[in-house]
Amino acid sequence: MSNQANTSSDQMHSVLQESRKFPPPTDFASRAHIKSPEQYEQMHRRSVEDPEGFWGEAAKDLHWFKPWDSVLEWNMPDAKWFVGGKTNLCYNCLDRQVNAGLGDKTAIVWESEAVDADGKPNVIRLTYADLLKKVSKFANVLKQLGVKKGDVVTIYMPMIPELAIAMLACARIGAPHSIIFGGFSAAAIRDRVEDGKSKIILTADGGWRRGKAVPLKQNADDGMDLTSLVETCVVVQHAQNDITMKPGRDQWWHELMQGASDDCPAEELDAEDLAFILYTSGSTGKPKGIMHTTGGYMVYTYLTAKHTFDLHPEDPDELFWCTADIGWITGHSYIIYGILPNRVPTLMYEGGPNFPAEDRFWDIIERHKVTKFYTAPTAIRAFMKWGDEHVEKHDLSSLKLLGTVGEPINPEAWMWYHEKIGGSKCPIVDTWWQTETGGHMLTPKPGATTTVPGSCTTPALGIDAAAVNSEGEEVETNTGGILVIRKPWPAMLRGIYGDRDRYIDTYWTKVPGLYTAGDGARKDEDGNFWIMGRIDDVIIVAGHNLGTMEVESALVSHASVAEAAVVGFPHEIKGTGVAAFVILRTDMPTGDEAEVLKKELAAHVGKELGPIAKPDQIKLTEALPKTRSGKIMRRLLRDIAAGVEITSDITTLEDKGIVEKLQRG
Ligand code: WT7
Repeated sequence: MSNQANTSSDQMHSVLQESRKFPPPTDFASRAHIKSPEQYEQMHRRSVEDPEGFWGEAAKDLHWFKPWDSVLEWNMPDAKWFVGGKTNLCYNCLDRQVNAGLGDKTAIVWESEAVDADGKPNVIRLTYADLLKKVSKFANVLKQLGVKKGDVVTIYMPMIPELAIAMLACARIGAPHSIIFGGFSAAAIRDRVEDGKSKIILTADGGWRRGKAVPLKQNADDGMDLTSLVETCVVVQHAQNDITMKPGRDQWWHELMQGASDDCPAEELDAEDLAFILYTSGSTGKPKGIMHTTGGYMVYTYLTAKHTFDLHPEDPDELFWCTADIGWITGHSYIIYGILPNRVPTLMYEGGPNFPAEDRFWDIIERHKVTKFYTAPTAIRAFMKWGDEHVEKHDLSSLKLLGTVGEPINPEAWMWYHEKIGGSKCPIVDTWWQTETGGHMLTPKPGATTTVPGSCTTPALGIDAAAVNSEGEEVETNTGGILVIRKPWPAMLRGIYGDRDRYIDTYWTKVPGLYTAGDGARKDEDGNFWIMGRIDDVIIVAGHNLGTMEVESALVSHASVAEAAVVGFPHEIKGTGVAAFVILRTDMPTGDEAEVLKKELAAHVGKELGPIAKPDQIKLTEALPKTRSGKIMRRLLRDIAAGVEITSDITTLEDKGIVEKLQRG
C-alpha cells in the first residue's frame, strides 16, 4: 500500500484519534426503515447467511414479467442473479408507478443554472406519466434509427432532461448505453466508441457550466473524426451554440421526436441482459468498460437507495438531490435507476455549484425544499473554503439527511457538513462503493448506525466485507489490510467489456477467490471500516478516478515529450492533485519559455482527456528516478510532488543525484 503510506499519514493519525460519535437522532430513527442497531444486525446476518432468501424477497417489491427460476448461480468469478427472470429497468422506473396510479406524481425536478428571459431559475418538473411518454417516443426514435436490442448507444450529453430520457429509452428497448461524462473530450470519446463498437452518439449543442456553453457537439465531432464507426449522431438543441450538422450523419432530436409514436411497450429482458457499460480508469492501459446487467443492478440500487437514504415515498415533501453528473456511476445509480423505482422525486441540476454565486446549491435546497442531499467531499471542501456566509443566507431546514461519496471525507469536513449544512440534526451517510459495485457497499444505515467522522462504517445489506492479508485471512482490528468482498452481490460487475483476462486479473487474483476492490482498509473495535486509499496507481482527483497511465499516455502524445511519470499529491480542494514529471525530446527550456511549455502540456492533457485530468504541477526534468530494473520509483515522486521529506527507501535507486535535482526544481 505504497499509495497510502505517503498520501495520508497525517490524516491516518487524526482518524485514529477520532472519538466523536453521532448516534442517529431519535426522531429520525423512529421513522426509519431500519430503526436500531439490533434490527440492522439481524437483517444483515440474515442477508449474508441466506442471500437467496433475502434477495428473492427484495426483488418482489419490483415488477417482473416472468419470475426467476433461481436467485443466484455462482461460479467464481461469474455471478448470475435472478436467473430465468424477465424484467425491464425502465418499466420499473416509470410504468410501474403510472400503473399504480402515480402518473401525476413528480419523478424528476430539473433545474439549469441558466435563467429564463425574466431572470427566474429555469425549472422543469416531469411526472412519471410525462416521462413515460417522452421515453417511449425516444425509444421509437432509436428503433427507427436502426438501434436493436444489444446495440451499444453512446451518450455524451449535459445534465438535461433529455439525458434521463435517452438512458431510460435505451433501457426500455434493451440497448446498453455507454455514457461519457461531458468533461471528457475527443480522444476519450474515440476510445469508448471503439471499445464498445458503438455506431450512434447522442449529444447536445452545448451544456451550461458557470455561464458558458460547453461545446459538446464540437467535442463529439472531433471524437467522430478520429474513428469511422459512428454512422448516426442525434443532437439536442439546448444551449443554442453555433454548431455544424453533418448531412447524412447528424439529426436534430426535436425533429426526430415530432413524428414518433408515444407507444412503445418495454422489452421483456432477461435478468442477465447487459444494461449498460460505464468506463472507469485503471492503473494500466486503457479504461475498463464495466458491465452491469438488468435484474441484479435494478434490485440492488433500488434497495440500497431505500435504506441508505431512508427514502419515504409516502412523505409528500420527500425530494432527493444527488449532485453528481450522470456520466459517473453515482449519477446512474442514485439520480436515476435507484431513485425512480423508490417513487421519490429526484432533482437534476445542470451547471456549476458557484454560478451565479457560491450559494447556488443552498439556494436550490431552500427553493425546492430538498430533504436528502448527496455530494462529494471535494465539493464540501470547496464550500468550506468559499465561506460560511453563503450558507448562512439560506434556510436549509428542509434537510433531513446528508450523504457523501467518492473519497474518504476528512473529519473537519465531516463536522462542517454536519453543523453548517445539516444544522447538527441530520445523519451523515459516508458511502463507500465503486463503479464496479453498482451501488453502496459500506455505509451507515441512518436510523441505526452511530456514525464517526471519517468512517464509512458497516456493510450494506447482503455485503460480506473484510480487511484481509494476501492469503485472504482477516487482519487484526485496526490494522490496514486489503478490502475484499467475500460473497457475490446482485449489482456486482459482470466483467470488463471485451476483456475477460483483465476482469479476472484486476478483481480476482490479488487475494485468490475474493473480490478485491483495490482499496486498503482497516476495521476498528466497533466494527467500523476506515478506507485507507488505493493500493494501486489510480489517483482520485476531485472524486474522479483517474489512471496515472492515461495521463502519462496523453503527455507522451505531445510532440515535445519523450517520457512522463504521473503521481497524485495532497491538494487542498481536490483532495488529490495531478503532478507530472516530464522528460522532453528537445533541450530543456528555461524561464518564460519553460512556463509557456508547461501551460501547453497541461492544455494538451485537458484536450486529450478532459479538464479534470490536467496536471496541477508539471516538473520538466532530464531524467526520472528509476530502479536498476528500470521501474519508475513512484513513491519517491509522490514525496517530491507533496514537497515532503523523502521517506522511501532509495537504496535501489540507480542515480541518486536525480532526487536532489528534482527537489530543487
Ligand atoms: C473508488 C471508486 C462510487 C462512486 C464514486 C467513485 C473511492 C468512493 C469512497 C468513500 C473512501 C471512497 C475508493 C473507491 N471511494 N467512495 N466513501 N470513502 N473512498 O467511483 O470512480 O469507481 O471510484 O473511489 O477508492 O475504490 P469510482
